[in-house]
Amino acid sequence: MKNMQTLTVGLGERSYPIHIGSGLLTRAELLQKAVPRKRVAIVSNTTVAPLYMEKLQHTLQSIGVVSVTIILPDGEEYKNSDTLNLIYDALLTHRCERTTPLIALGGGVVGDMTGYAAATYLRGVPFIQIPTTLLAQVDSSVGGKTGINHPLGKNMIGAFYQPQLVLADTDTLDTLPDKELAAGLAEVIKYGLIRDLPFLEWLEQNIDKLLARDTVALQYAIARSCQNKAEVVEADERESGERALLNLGHTFGHAIESGMGYGNWLHGEGVAAGTVMAADLSQRLGWIGAQDVARIRGLFERARLPVVAPDLGAEKYLDLMGLDKKVEGGKIRFVLLKQLGRAVVYGDANPELLRQTLAACCK
Ligand code: NAD
Ligand code: GLY
Repeated sequence: MKNMQTLTVGLGERSYPIHIGSGLLTRAELLQKAVPRKRVAIVSNTTVAPLYMEKLQHTLQSIGVVSVTIILPDGEEYKNSDTLNLIYDALLTHRCERTTPLIALGGGVVGDMTGYAAATYLRGVPFIQIPTTLLAQVDSSVGGKTGINHPLGKNMIGAFYQPQLVLADTDTLDTLPDKELAAGLAEVIKYGLIRDLPFLEWLEQNIDKLLARDTVALQYAIARSCQNKAEVVEADERESGERALLNLGHTFGHAIESGMGYGNWLHGEGVAAGTVMAADLSQRLGWIGAQDVARIRGLFERARLPVVAPDLGAEKYLDLMGLDKKVEGGKIRFVLLKQLGRAVVYGDANPELLRQTLAACCK
């Protein structure tokens, strides 16, 4: 395996590279093109900044770039308008300009909030993603979905706003807690289930290596995930079709996350239990077999992810899922599996079958 792989998200003039590999935080030449000016603002949080801020600042200094740092409180429960305002306050206080790039250094929470700040501050400033969780390296840093939560629903306020560069330094995963690594695997498994059966099979064979943080296996899984994501985003940047498939398990999962209170279930944990629910519903519709559902559940279990959802009560689930961004004409549209490796969006799930899934999958 090469030390670094580079993929491209092909969006015409807004195309950008994703660099994946070890030691990238010290490679100033990778940042240089996206940082043409002498100043940047780096947004991070109280956990990640002490680990990696100094290294990044040092790298930037080596090419004559000084940085304003903005350190947010850590947690999904802070992914809201109050925290977003902290970013705007700091940018204005430091008189950051239209040409000052915003760099997100952290997981998906920092990335989503920084991206939304970049999309809106002075009506848009350049944006760079430096993801430091597995979830952010395989999913949230790529594709330009940015935003914050609302008390009534997850990621309800946001914008599509692409970064100019994604720098995924796999060394940062060394400090990631096991539970967070597992949460990232939920999104990795997602790509196999929705569109890449050979990758699903590879994951079944290599999940233990990934959990053991085998560097070659991790880099392969990150690159293959990003390749899948880039292809989907290139085909459907603003989610008028295929991109919705990336939400497998998310309609149920977001209901779990907001129903349990943001921060109590990790996003990836909600996606894992939610994907088992989507698989159960797909089976009830007669699309996949019991052995497929067992295979999916087995892989999540091996990845040390939850496969049983919390019992919020059917009414609460229906209420929360009624707020999903994919709802159309009042109908909840689920991403379901026609077969392993092939997902569809389906808006006609029989309410009785849905209730059966909720009863069967929640404890
Ligand atoms: P997160 O950002 O909360 O990070 C998880 C935890 O790990 C945090 O406590 C964080 O401080 C810590 N951390 C980060 N990097 C670390 C490191 N290298 N070492 C030690 N600790 C580290 O969570 P996440 O799982 O990265 O992201 C979840 C968020 O991403 C959710 O809000 C979800 O909605 C969003 N998301 C967005 C997209 C998108 O397309 N924009 C896709 C998927 C998920
Ligand atoms: N994570 C879903 C998307 O980017 O579309």
